[in-house]
Amino acid sequence: MLWKKKETISLDIRKAYPSDARGIINCMQSVMDEKIYLVSEYYLLTERGEQERLKNPDELTLVCNDNELIVGVLTLQRGMYKKNRHVANLGIAIRRNYRHMNVGTRMIGNALEWAKDNGIKKINLEVFSTNVNAIKTYRKLGFEYEGMRKNQFFINGQYVDDVLMTYML
Ligand SMILES: CC(C)(COP(=O)(O)OP(=O)(O)OC[C@H]1O[C@@H](n2cnc3c(N)ncnc32)[C@H](O)[C@@H]1OP(=O)(O)O)[C@@H](O)C(=O)NCCC(=O)NCCS
Repeated sequence: MLWKKKETISLDIRKAYPSDARGIINCMQSVMDEKIYLVSEYYLLTERGEQERLKNPDELTLVCNDNELIVGVLTLQRGMYKKNRHVANLGIAIRRNYRHMNVGTRMIGNALEWAKDNGIKKINLEVFSTNVNAIKTYRKLGFEYEGMRKNQFFINGQYVDDVLMTYML
């Protein structure tokens, strides 16, 4: 396939430690700088705030490392109320040079395992309708379309729909 830059590579994927805070912020900010994949353009937590977030047992944060560099971050945040603790929201961002190497597929696969082990029944995510690579990845992994918010975002001079996707465990 022409769009594959390299064969799949085996980089380490593991749960994040508080000491990963700076690397996570840098990775997230590099993807936010591209401006076309994520709603926020600035990572809002400080390093200290990120360290605190990483201690929350209701949130899973996975990182993918290439030696010292964090190249991928996945978060799974479960609902904090009795009524929505069975649901978690998924977010993922992989640095530009590390995409299309199976890292996203592996990270989401690990997150689905954690969700199953932690009694989560449903995983939600939102993705720009223009982000066809991400939608392909989610569809391949078994996520289904749940709905769409028309013209929810304005990106580079055009309105973009918000696609809601879900995975039932
Ligand atoms: C979306 C993202 C998480 C996918 O992770 P990835 O590691 O790049 O994807 P993978 O290599 O695991 O590929 C998964 C599938 O997506 C599809 N895909 C990936 N890249 C593609 C491309 N350039 N063109 C077409 N399809 C593509 C393929 O179906 C692929 O499956 P296959 O290799 O079995 O054919 C990653 O590209 C990313 O972080 N992008 C920028 C930030 C972002 O969009 N975050 C999500 C916001 S909702």
